[in-house]
Formats: sequence, C-alpha cells, structure tokens
Amino acid sequence: MRVWPVLLILLLQFVEPSHGQTKSQQNNTGFQCSGRSYPCQAYAFYRAQSQFLDLASIGDLFQVSRLMIANPSNISSNSVSSPLILNQQLFIPLTCSCNSINTTFGSISYANISYTIKPNDTFYLVSTNKFENLTTYPSVEVVNPNLVATNLQIGDNAIFPVFCKCPDKNTTVSNTRANYMISYVVQPSDNLSSIASRFGSQQKAITDVNGNKFNVYDTIFVPVTKLPVLSQPNTSTAAAPSPTPAGSSDDRAGTVRGLAIGLGIAGLLLMVVCAVWMYRESVLKGRMWAGRDEEEQRQKEGRVFSGGGDGKGSKPMDVKLMANVSDCLDKYRVFGIEELVEATDAFSDSCLIQGSVYKGTIDGETYAIKKMKWNAYEELKILQKVNHGNLVKLEGFCIDSEEGNCYLVYEYVENGSLNWWLHEEEGKNKEKLNWKTRVRIGIDIANGLQYIHEHTRPRVVHKDIKSSNILLDSNMRAKIANFGLAKSGMNAITMHIVGTQGYIAPEYLADGVVSTKMDVFSFGVVLLELISGREAIDEEGNLLWMSAMKTFEGVSSDQEKGRRVREWMDKAILRDTISMDSLLGVLGIAIACLHKEPSKRPSIVDVVYALCKSDDAGFETSEDGIGSPKVTAR
Ligand SMILES: *[C@@H]1O[C@H](CO)[C@@H](O)[C@H](O)[C@H]1NC(C)=O
Ligand SMILES: *[C@@H]1O[C@H](CO)[C@@H](O)[C@H](O)[C@H]1NC(C)=O
Ligand SMILES: *[C@@H]1O[C@H](CO)[C@@H](O)[C@H](O)[C@H]1NC(C)=O
Ligand SMILES: *[C@@H]1O[C@H](CO)[C@@H](O)[C@H](O)[C@H]1NC(C)=O
Ligand SMILES: *[C@@H]1O[C@H](CO)[C@@H](O)[C@H](O)[C@H]1NC(C)=O
Ligand SMILES: *[C@@H]1O[C@H](CO)[C@@H](O)[C@H](O)[C@H]1NC(C)=O
Ligand SMILES: *[C@@H]1O[C@H](CO)[C@@H](O)[C@H](O)[C@H]1NC(C)=O
Ligand SMILES: *[C@@H]1O[C@H](CO)[C@@H](O)[C@H](O)[C@H]1NC(C)=O
Ligand SMILES: *[C@@H]1O[C@H](CO)[C@@H](O)[C@H](O)[C@H]1NC(C)=O
Repeated sequence: MRVWPVLLILLLQFVEPSHGQTKSQQNNTGFQCSGRSYPCQAYAFYRAQSQFLDLASIGDLFQVSRLMIANPSNISSNSVSSPLILNQQLFIPLTCSCNSINTTFGSISYANISYTIKPNDTFYLVSTNKFENLTTYPSVEVVNPNLVATNLQIGDNAIFPVFCKCPDKNTTVSNTRANYMISYVVQPSDNLSSIASRFGSQQKAITDVNGNKFNVYDTIFVPVTKLPVLSQPNTSTAAAPSPTPAGSSDDRAGTVRGLAIGLGIAGLLLMVVCAVWMYRESVLKGRMWAGRDEEEQRQKEGRVFSGGGDGKGSKPMDVKLMANVSDCLDKYRVFGIEELVEATDAFSDSCLIQGSVYKGTIDGETYAIKKMKWNAYEELKILQKVNHGNLVKLEGFCIDSEEGNCYLVYEYVENGSLNWWLHEEEGKNKEKLNWKTRVRIGIDIANGLQYIHEHTRPRVVHKDIKSSNILLDSNMRAKIANFGLAKSGMNAITMHIVGTQGYIAPEYLADGVVSTKMDVFSFGVVLLELISGREAIDEEGNLLWMSAMKTFEGVSSDQEKGRRVREWMDKAILRDTISMDSLLGVLGIAIACLHKEPSKRPSIVDVVYALCKSDDAGFETSEDGIGSPKVTAR
C-alpha cells in the first residue's frame, strides 16, 4: 500500500525526463579551507531515494547510526526502523574537517566518508546518485590519488569527500553567530528565498558564504543558528508494538488472562528479566531490527518497475531476477551453477535432504541448497528483509537462466528438523529431547515469529509453521525455515489455501483470512507436539489440536489437569524432574494459541513473555554454551 505512492512518483519521474541541466559544478574539486574553525559539527541535507529508503542504509552510506540521523531529522526513535518515503528530508550529521591535500593544492574541507566500490560504480555515478551531488567526481579524484578513476576494482575503498564548511566568527544570520552550516544541493525548483526560508536562514547570510551565483546541483552552505525542525510525514500508525503486554484493549486483556497466568509481582519481575534478556540479545545481535533489508525490497520494486517501464524488458521475470541479483551482490554470495552441481553431485539423491533441498559443501562450508523455479522471488524478497538468529539464514543464491531454475543457498542447520526429533523412527540412537530443551525450542520459535510479526515492515506471516519447518542447530537452538509460503502484508483474504493439514488455523481454512494470528495457531500446535510427542495429525487423520481441546477444555482444577496431562504427554519428558507448573504453563499457552477466534489468541509478543516466564530453566543460558543465537551481521 505504501508502495503505490512510491511507484507513482517513480512513474512521474520517468514520464518527465530530466532535460540536460547546465554543467554546473562538475569541475569543482572542493572547497578551500583554512584550519582555524575546523573541525566542527555540520549537517548535510539529504533526500531519501529509491535505493535508500530506510535509515539503516543511509546510515551505512554516511557511516552514522540510524539514531544519529533520526534525532536531527525529527524522526521519533520508535520509527527508526520504519521505511522512509521517497524524497523524505533528512539531516545527516557530518564531522567536518579541513584536510590538506598537498602543498600546491592546499586544503579542502569535507567529511571523510569511506565507500567500498561496487559493480558498475564510477566516481561520477556515486557522487551524483548515491551522494546526491554532495560531492563531485573531481574532488573524489583529488582525495583518492592512489585510485585510477577509469580503473576501479570492485571492493576498492575510496574516500568520498562530502562537502561541508565550518562557520567562523564572521558567519552570522541576522547578526547572530551561526552555529552550523548545512550542506545543501540546489534543486531545479529552488531560488534563494525558498532556500533561506526552508532552513530558517537569511538570503544575505547565504550569499555571504556562497557568493551570489550558484547553479542547479551546486552544493551550497546554509548557515543557521539552530537546526530547523523538519516536518516529517505521518509515520505508519502501526508504530512499534508496545513493549508491555499490559493490554489496553479488552481483547488484549482477555488474552493475557487466557494465558492462565496471574501476573503477580514475581511475574512482573520475570517479565523485566525477559525484556532485559531480549534487549541484551538484540544488542549483541547489533542490527537485529534489520530495517536495512527493506530498502532492498523497495529498491527492487523500483527496479522491477523501471524494467517494465523502459519497454525493453522482453522477459520481465528475467529482468526482475537479474536486478535482484545485482542488488544483493554485496550482501549475498552469488553462486555459479557449476559450483552447486559439483557440491551436490549433480543434485543426486544421496545429497537430498528433503523435498527439493540438497546438502552441499562449497569451499569447505556446508550449505542447504533449495532448488526452485522462478517463483523463488517471493521467498527471496522476504528473506532479504529478515535477519534473526531464530530464522534460517540465506547465504546466497544462484540463477540458472538456461534451465529456468533459481537456487537459494541457506546456512546448513546441523541437527535436522524438530519433526524428525519428535516423531521419526529412523535414527533410533537419537536422544529424546528433554523438557528444558523443548521449552527452549518453543521460546526460540516464538522469538523468530515475534521478529517477523513485529519487527518487519510490512509484517510477514509465515503461513506454514510446523515441526518439519523448524530446524535445530548443533546447540539444539531452533530456527524457522521455509519462507516459501510466507506473505508480507496483513489481514489479506486469499482464495488459494496453502499450508499443512493439522496446523492450519480454522479461520484461514474457512475464509482464507491471513493474519499473524494464523502463525500463532500453528505455533500452538507445535507446542502441543513438544508436550505430547504426538504428530499434528495421526494416521487416522485425527488432529492433535482437536484432541487437546477435547482433553483439556473446561477442566478448571489444576489437579485434574495435571492428571490428564501426565496421561497425555510424552513420557520421555518424565525422565527428568520437571515442574508441573512449567508443564501446565506451556500447555496453557498452547491452548490459548489454539483459540478458535483469532482475536482471542494471544499475540506472539504475549506468547514470548509467557513462555519466558514458564521457562523454569531461567536465563543462565549464556553460561551453558547455548547462549544467544548467533547472528552474523551482514
Ligand atoms: C570550471 O567551470 C567553469 C564554468 O563552467 C569554467 O569557467 C572554469 O574555467 C572551469 N574550471 C576548470 C578548472 O576547468
Ligand atoms: C516534528 O516536528 C513537529 C513540528 O513540525 C512536531 O510537532 C513533532 O513533535 C516533531 N516530532 C519529533 C519526533 O520531534
Ligand atoms: C578518512 O578515514 C579513513 C578511515 O576511516 C582514514 O584511513 C583516512 O586517513 C581518513 N582521511 C582523512 C583525510 O582524514
Ligand atoms: C546531480 O547532478 C547531475 C548533474 O550534474 C544531475 O543529472 C543529477 O540528477 C543530480 N543528482 C541528484 C540526485 O540530484
Ligand atoms: C597535488 O594534488 C593535486 C590534486 O590531486 C594534483 O593534481 C597535483 O599534481 C598534486 N601536486 C603535487 C606536487 O603532488
Ligand atoms: C572577519 O571580519 C573581520 C572584519 O570584519 C575581518 O578582518 C576578518 O578577516 C574576517 N575573518 C574572516 C575569517 O573572514
Ligand atoms: C521562489 O520560489 C517560490 C516557490 O518555490 C516562489 O513562490 C517565489 O515567488 C520564488 N521567488 C523568486 C524571487 O523567484
Ligand atoms: C496523521 O495521521 C493521523 C491518523 O492516521 C491523522 O489523523 C492526521 O491528520 C495525520 N496528520 C497529518 C499531518 O497528516
Ligand atoms: C552494469 O551495467 C551494465 C550496462 O549498463 C548492465 O548491463 C549490468 O547489468 C550492470 N551490472 C550491475 C551489476 O549492475
């Protein structure tokens, strides 16, 4: 829905071709400076563009954090991971210094931004596109004497000198000393008065610094006494979820009660511990709230569009995928088809893991390789947006245009699927999972779901949560796999019912309603599998969740519940001493997740809290070596 305005704007841009502007500042090698007032804090005015539609990617470009952009730009800190809109105005903080080039050339003032050369980059293209003319290619050449502009190699590190200037004693705005200079690139629609009023400066102050004459796409410096407040578009109302489950709406309160857990003081304490733990994890993971990857998606949509709009896309799908590949070059490895053929013994059955997923070793690393038709696009789109320790990581991909196949290459998760651990006969020497591990697995899955439900924009619904899509790594930590059916966007209605019998939520089966609550339902079924060791659907076609409902519905006394649970549960769990409270707690959560009415089911956030609470194993997890799930920053 947010995509449409973007496409429209793109469309307008294509309809109205930019007519050749005057050559302007193209021979500008930089702005001379003398060191007295340097270095200083400066800001660049930057507009979000189709290849950078989120703070993370812009922050990466300018080597600042998202918050460092959000604060001066009047973007509230809880929307730092929301996507930006095209041309959204931002202030990028710069450290402006006076850098001496050599004795004959003198010194020029700029912010030292290093940049790694990517395919098809030239100094000209990067300065005019990515840096939006905040620097010029002659200046880039000057500050990178060791690089040959005509012979750039991918991976070269170049400095892009983003122009800036420090105010001195004489720089005033209405007789008040200026505190900052804003680097601003003159736009075709600008005139002096519009620029002055945009930044709350003064025409005279601007001409004092920049002279009287400047051309379109010149960088000028606008002196200001304080940074103006940018007006930001309404961010989506679905802002970050409230971090406490203390529900405001009746519905929410109901579900919390439905979890059958009195939130006493002890509960609150545990919640705090839980929140702190999750926070710590998120800090450890650095970029957990992957904002950045949304840009990729948008970028692609832009490209996809332009591919079609050019009228030269004879094979639109092809163009689209190729565009994806180049967009992802820096983040994902692009494998050659020969590599995959060699790794998997030409996709022989001996390498088959399951379905169309093969195991292969490339350069000593083991991967899971999934063979698909072109429809990998959806999964790729979603996987690009997600990066979390409890989701199987995409490492790279391969396009085989001759065969029309696409291969997604994932991290190989050593211990196979939860389904195998719980239900399958083969490999009898495997140990039965203990209760602590099972609860841990439940929490891992819930954490992964929480991430896709709450921290991606638009939200992602997995649609096929089941024990065979849960993989266990060498530490028996769970990762959600197989985003092949996943959908981004919410509350859609679909006529095409997909999913797996035994896990499908009733409202989806009946009406095709897609919402995050359908994942919550399926998650409830997985919890039942963990407790009971039974399959989601048995040989006679009886559904596990139905049988659980029959067994436990309407039983209010804990004693009776305990008796029934002991009968119903996986006896393997009883080898360990387990607390009945923990068992009943998890069962209560599972039952709440299975509520027929989607709105009565807890949200995954509530589930994570409740599960953490019933995890009597506590949170000493990092000591016993199965610490927080590993995330490699991309
Ligand atoms: C830079 O461009 C201006 C006008 O476009 C021209 O007058 C000047 O000679 C050029 N300077 C150099 C060094 O090429
Ligand atoms: C942004 O600026 C507007 C006024 O233009 C103000 O009402 C709003 O509170 C500001 N937002 C933030 C996050 O500072
Ligand atoms: C710019 O930064 C890079 C690393 O960030 C550093 O190696 C280089 O010396 C800096 N250059 C200048 C002129 O400050
Ligand atoms: C930068 O300047 C060039 C002309 O010098 C212009 O074609 C281009 O559109 C400008 N880039 C941006 C982002 O405004
Ligand atoms: C100084 O730097 C400029 C710009 O890079 C270059 O053209 C010039 O040859 C250099 N002079 C010396 C003496 O190195
Ligand atoms: C500032 O102004 C004074 C006089 O008004 C002048 O002597 C001085 O050179 C100016 N300094 C700069 C850096 O322009
Ligand atoms: C400057 O541009 C604004 C709108 O952008 C316009 O209203 C104003 O008349 C222009 N002023 C001059 C002197 O052209
Ligand atoms: C922002 O959004 C809210 C609700 O979505 C709306 O009531 C309000 O008028 C909007 N404000 C602006 C400035 O668009
Ligand atoms: C580089 O540019 C060429 C020609 O414009 C294009 O065909 C190719 O796809 C581009 N490569 C990448 C990786 O963008």
